[in-house]
Amino acid sequence: MERIYVFDTTLRDGEQSPGAAMTVEQKYEVALQLVRLGVDVIEAGFPVSSPQQFRGCQVIAEKVKGVVIAALARAVEKDLDLAAESIQKAEHPRIHTFISTSPLHMQFKLKKDPETVLEMAKHAVRYARSKCAEVEFSPEDGTRSEVPFLCRVLEAVIKEGATIINIPDTVGYTTPYEFERFLKAILEGTPNIDKAMLSVHCHNDLGLAVANTLAALRVGARQIEVTVNGIGERAGNAALEEVVMCLHVRKDQFPYTTGINTRQIYPTSKLLSTILGFPIARNKPIVGENAFAHESGIHQDGVLKKRETYEIMTPESVGRDESKIVLGRHSGMHGFSKRLKDLGITLSEKELKEAYERFLVIADRKKEVFDEDIYAIIGDQLGQEVDMYALEYFNVITGNQSIPTATVRIRRGDELLEEAATGDGPIDAVFRAIERATGITGSLQEYNVQAVTPGKQAVGEVGVVVLFDEHRCVGRGASTDILEASARAYLSAMNRYRALKGNHKEEKEVKETQ
Ligand code: KIV
Ligand code: ZN
Repeated sequence: MERIYVFDTTLRDGEQSPGAAMTVEQKYEVALQLVRLGVDVIEAGFPVSSPQQFRGCQVIAEKVKGVVIAALARAVEKDLDLAAESIQKAEHPRIHTFISTSPLHMQFKLKKDPETVLEMAKHAVRYARSKCAEVEFSPEDGTRSEVPFLCRVLEAVIKEGATIINIPDTVGYTTPYEFERFLKAILEGTPNIDKAMLSVHCHNDLGLAVANTLAALRVGARQIEVTVNGIGERAGNAALEEVVMCLHVRKDQFPYTTGINTRQIYPTSKLLSTILGFPIARNKPIVGENAFAHESGIHQDGVLKKRETYEIMTPESVGRDESKIVLGRHSGMHGFSKRLKDLGITLSEKELKEAYERFLVIADRKKEVFDEDIYAIIGDQLGQEVDMYALEYFNVITGNQSIPTATVRIRRGDELLEEAATGDGPIDAVFRAIERATGITGSLQEYNVQAVTPGKQAVGEVGVVVLFDEHRCVGRGASTDILEASARAYLSAMNRYRALKGNHKEEKEVKETQ
């Protein structure tokens, strides 16, 4: 069976989706899990876009081994220099450079004629090759490009040394049958295409990203660009878990192998959604809450008699084992940290200590602590930077005859901030007290709460979306007390805002010095 290479762009295209910005630490955390998952290439970021992006690539290149680390660059020297520098310490570095080739993009976005674009693409690949042994080239808006011109560009960049040719369906416009024919025309029209590996990168605007990716395999694509949970620009990219499980379940249709350990799919999906605070739709294939749930009597009866009647794959095959009772209040630090390890979660010593303390509090309130509780507990802690706000203490007085009043104590590094406030309700009072203590005000756009596990003592997970200046920031927090979970969620949105703001400021500085 032929091998398909999985290029994961969760940390680059995925991170470009609104509200999905991650800190360097969080990106590193996800990258480690992607290695456990078994991807072949990690696209770590777009270094020229901000110093934080540059650092993210640098840290991942230095510390994450056993995979190719790619960095994205436009077809200009400044981008290529930064991309090369950011990944120079990688075991296997790859520069991924791109330029638009569709008439629409060339005329209106680049304001350049096709011959100039062709020369820029050639120069970019030659220049990138002088700095990095492996270069991937993408003609942006590829599927809306004219085949003869596209073939000229591809032939030229292969001559300059590009060894991976990636065809992006940038705006998710193509359809499976059309994409197959389009790729066939490219293969026929590019005489030296056999010197490169064909790759595809499909967006999901019409819900066809996975179908288009699979169609491409039938005509010879051997690298697929995907993201965990399908996150990415607008409607997202082809979901890694869906493409991989299609290959796995329908080997009769797709006789290919990948390096993916499918049992790591669910832990990876959970980790990412926990870090981002993005809930996964209940009916999402493979990783959604209901993906393996059988509600109707007929289905339940069928599954009990023979599982295959209504299940085409087992939950275990994607790492969704029966939720285990992890530990109870008598469990020691050793057992707790071992369980984290099994779940693919790496914490620093300080984070581990804090997580364990929170675990003990929850274990005290709840008899049984499940894996889902553990994800929820550590979620708002993962990859937090040192001077981020952390909740130390809170107290709320409320009732139907009194004015809700909250007091909070927040730690930032060595500093303790304490404030009190009243509000329309207890949650409003908590948020106002936090704003007073930190001096940062936001406008709450969304608030939701859900139980992580069944039962009255369940851990509640609160998700918020808060607008700070022009930044929409997602936050999440968990606790058996929903007021505490709300406070944690608000602080986590605030921490994201602070990381973004720092990022934004630095970004401006880069632009000014260009
Ligand atoms: O969608 C797209 O065109 C991209 C390219 C940079 C590959 O993300
Ligand atoms: Zn893309």
